[in-house]
Amino acid sequence: MNILALSGNVKRPSRTASLVKMAADRLRQRVSGHVQSIELVVAAPVLFGALRADQLDTEGKAIIAAVQGADIIIAGSPVYRASYSGALKHLFDLVDYRALTGKCVVLAATGGTPLHGLMLEHQLRPLFGFFNAMTVPTAIYALEADFTAHEPLQYDDRSRELKRS
Ligand SMILES: Cc1cc2nc3c(=O)[nH]c(=O)nc-3n(C[C@H](O)[C@H](O)[C@H](O)COP(=O)(O)O)c2cc1C
Repeated sequence: MNILALSGNVKRPSRTASLVKMAADRLRQRVSGHVQSIELVVAAPVLFGALRADQLDTEGKAIIAAVQGADIIIAGSPVYRASYSGALKHLFDLVDYRALTGKCVVLAATGGTPLHGLMLEHQLRPLFGFFNAMTVPTAIYALEADFTAHEPLQYDDRSRELKRS
């Protein structure tokens, strides 16, 4: 299985990238395969050079190929202006509309307020609906307060509390 850990963060360090990595690590414990990571802080400057897929350079084509070749995508974004990041949207504007059909997608986001958690349901999930991808019903949303130094607090199954790692 090709697992893609895709994070829409546009700066580092990033809570979103940490959350997506944690989800990928957990998934990797259950599914055998290879994990590839893409962070928009690195990918976006390459992709913004192309407004259409036919304008992508070699590096940009490799980024889009990684998205289109993944079997499972963990797609995370910071909430920006009550939506997912524009950098993440630009990446998906360059993905072939047929390429994600039937693929499994895990949705994740980080934000400053719990009021914007539904961004996942009202904006990120419909994006993958357009692609006919299969989004996992439960989405992951974490607040700034759920992190210490941009690393997520760990959920302790026994005490059922969030703890610093
Ligand atoms: C430009 C900007 C816009 C933001 N807009 C929102 C917002 O609309 N709603 C929200 O809950 N948080 C908002 N935030 C807070 C970020 O979503 C939050 O800090 C997030 O964890 C940042 O992720 P990162 O560490 O991966 O960059 C915004 C932050 C920035 C810098």
